[in-house]
Amino acid sequence: MLEKKKILIIGGSSGIGLAVAKQARRHGGQVVIASRQAVAQKAMLVDVLQGECEAHSFIDRSGSIVLTSGIAGERIYKGASTMAIINSATETLCRALAVELAPLRVNTVSPGFVAPKSREIQDYAGQFPLPRLASTDDAAMAYISLMTNPYVTGTVLVVDGGARLI
Ligand SMILES: NC(=O)c1ccc[n+]([C@@H]2O[C@H](COP(=O)([O-])OP(=O)(O)OC[C@H]3O[C@@H](n4cnc5c(N)ncnc54)[C@H](OP(=O)(O)O)[C@@H]3O)[C@@H](O)[C@H]2O)c1
Repeated sequence: MLEKKKILIIGGSSGIGLAVAKQARRHGGQVVIASRQAVAQKAMLVDVLQGECEAHSFIDRSGSIVLTSGIAGERIYKGASTMAIINSATETLCRALAVELAPLRVNTVSPGFVAPKSREIQDYAGQFPLPRLASTDDAAMAYISLMTNPYVTGTVLVVDGGARLI
């Protein structure tokens, strides 16, 4: 699905980004992960290391960008006001860039609660329509879908098991 595609993942050294890197690799993509740490130990995941990404598809606008927002952009959680602003601004930026950079496609994944360790959140997840936390792979599948669908742009794909609905 991603053969001959070069994929740069900013924040790909752990969590959701790392899961996207693994899935993209499995689908045949050439994956580059950007990280503040040395990533040599994860070299088996990447074809080219930091700084060596070729950006042809961005230059000729034949590729796509997938941004990350989150459930706090839609639901209000005490103590998460900064996250709320960042997430909703990211979704607005996505729509603006989808127009400004077209035909480059720009989309956003909005995860709900992805594998957090907190007992409180694990219990909360029991109330979701799909009553469990997301795995990083659940979230990663949404990125692959947005990377590969050629007629989707300016959209937000929510991966929250229905958490925002309750
Ligand atoms: N996990 C969730 O439940 C959840 C829910 C909603 C939204 N999200 C969003 O999804 C994204 C990924 O979440 P995650 O849980 O997978 O996070 P994570 O495991 O903590 O991974 C964060 C990644 O971002 C990089 N990073 C962190 N701080 C950075 C900084 N100041 N500058 C540059 N890079 C930085 C890290 O790279 P290095 O440390 O190697 O540089 C790492 O690869 C975040 O934007 C988060 O807000 C997550």
